Formats: sequence, C-alpha cells, structure tokens
Amino acid sequence: MTTPTIELKPSSHPLSDAEREAILTDPGFGRHFTDHMVTIKWTEGRGWHDAELVPYAPLSIDPANMTLHYAQEIFEGLKAYRRPDGSVVTFRPDANARRFQASARRLAMPELPVELFIGACDALVQQDKAWVPEHGGESSLYLRPFMIAAEVGLGVRPANEYLFIVIASPAGAYFPGGVEPVSIWLSEDRVRAVPGGMGDAKTGGNYAASLLAQAEAATHGCAQVAYLDAVEHRWVEELGGMNLYFVYEDHIVTPALTGSLLAGITRDSLLRLAEDLGHPSREGRISIEQWRADTESGALKEVFACGTAAVITPVGTVKTKDGEWEQSGGEPGEVTMKLRKALLDIQTGRAEDVHGWTH
Ligand code: COI
Repeated sequence: MTTPTIELKPSSHPLSDAEREAILTDPGFGRHFTDHMVTIKWTEGRGWHDAELVPYAPLSIDPANMTLHYAQEIFEGLKAYRRPDGSVVTFRPDANARRFQASARRLAMPELPVELFIGACDALVQQDKAWVPEHGGESSLYLRPFMIAAEVGLGVRPANEYLFIVIASPAGAYFPGGVEPVSIWLSEDRVRAVPGGMGDAKTGGNYAASLLAQAEAATHGCAQVAYLDAVEHRWVEELGGMNLYFVYEDHIVTPALTGSLLAGITRDSLLRLAEDLGHPSREGRISIEQWRADTESGALKEVFACGTAAVITPVGTVKTKDGEWEQSGGEPGEVTMKLRKALLDIQTGRAEDVHGWTH
C-alpha cells in the first residue's frame, strides 16, 4: 500500500488537556469534535488532490452547492479504540473504504482509493490521539469520513468537483440507556428503501427517509424503527441505522443483503465471530409473522441490533399497530452479551485478533 501525501497544518489553538478531559468524561454520541479534520478535493481532469490535515472548522458553502439541493452525499462510520498498552487501533477500515467506494459508484461520485481513505483516517487519529478515550470503558473515537459534491449549480447531474472530509468525535453509548434493551416500533406503511434504490449505499438520503418513521416511533415510546421490505411489506430488513440479528437455540440469523439494506461491517464481523463462539450463523429471510410467532413459541431466544455506533444493543419490546411483544423477558440476552463482549474484546485488544481485523 502506498502512503498518501498528507500536508499537516495542525491547529495552533487545540483544546486544553483539561477541556478535552472534561468532554471525555461524558462524550455522548456525536456531540463533540476533535481539533482537526482531513480534507481531500477531487476535480474533473485532475482527480484526487493532495490531502490536508487542518484545524476542525466550519465549511463555507455556496447556497447553490449541489449537495444542498440534490443530496449527492455519502458517508462512513468507524471507530478507533485504545488498547491496554495505550496504543490505538481502528477496526476494519479497509472494509469501510470498500463500502465507501460502492456508495460512491451508486451515487455517481468518484471512488476514493482504499489507501487514501485509510491514510486520511490514520492521519487524523495520529494527530488527535489524545482524544481516543482510555482503555477499559465503553468509549471510543468515532470517525466520520464523508464526501459531498462541491460544485455550484442547479443542473441535475453528477458534479464535477467533490470534497472528501474525515472528522472525529469521541463516542460513548449511542443510546442514552447504554446496553439496556431498546424498544422497536415496526413501520408497516413507510419503507426505508426500495429494490433498485439506494438502500445498500451509505448516503444521507436513506437516513432522511427514516426520520418521519423514527418520530412516529418516539410517539409510541420506541427508540428505533424496524423496516419491512418495500414489495411484500413482510420481510424484516433493518432498523433506521443498524442491522438486526435473531438468536435461535441452535443458530443465529440476520436478514440477507437484498440490495435494499446496508451491508453493515459489524453485521459481517458477527457472522464470523458467532461461528468462532460455536453459534452457527447465516443470512436468511425472517417475516414479521415469524418474528412474532417464534418469540411467542419460545423458539426465538433473543434479538439484537448491531452497527458501528450501536455496537450490539439488545432489542427489548417490539411494538406494532396490532400489539406488542417482548424479547428475552425485556432483559439483555446471554448470546447477545457474549457476542458483544467478544467483539469489544477484539476491538480493544483484550482478545487475540485472529481475523486480522484491527489496524
Ligand atoms: C454507524 O453505525 O456508524 C452509523 O452510521 C449509524 C448511524 C449513527 C448513522
């Protein structure tokens, strides 16, 4: 892998140690940002420019910037963890880089080379290493690489200029309740994505599409929405920002990648990690009727959500317009918590990384 050229222009006014430490004691999720960011421009004819590491700062955007009007935008999410010896690793950044390329293709944007993606993340983590929380807790440094169209104009077509940026944010638990089971609202009349649409791309539009159902979920006292497929309104796909897993006595199963759901990197890692722990795992199809019937019969033991931000979060109550049911008595399930620990142990260096996932 060639090391990309990154011009370092560090901040002359980073936050003081005391200010940073105060933030790190209770970072929340996505509320605070580190001192720097990495930017890389792409222009037609020239391609990718050299990267720059600069102080974190607002962007100046023309009101006619194409992203603001036609949403040509993609993003990623990955985390940096502190290991017991104080060193810092990221988890499967190559997988994020490849998914970023796939999202770029879907939105007719230029593909950032994998080594540039990883090099930009590495440079930011290296510069802002003091922002990676101490080993031992649940916190990490969340990296948010993203790309926007940078051209100004109102014609509907792919832009001829783009801006790739990586920012970083210290992150505690995504849900305010931590690993407490989340309640799920089943959206039966709104869908997140359609066949042939953009559901498998990590683009802001998919998240915008989930917000109204998310607000409806909140009115039913639920923290997340579960979406069904857009054709038969029957097959469980995913939550607004995370994948789902179903734990049976003798195997675990996650909805197969049909094109309308996101290929989560945590989801993929768990397919392999579960096997390591003796739980046969597979991709499959689960209907909403089966979800309910298998819970009521006791065949379905646990359900959990997974994603970079959410890690692994147990599902507690599921509410639909026809009633509700509870997973594993509303308590975090045993297999869920075992997988969660195994994953975090690899990410934070407490267990051997036999798959070579940490970087
Ligand atoms: C992630 O898990 O990294 C996500 O992108 C989910 C959400 C915070 C948008």
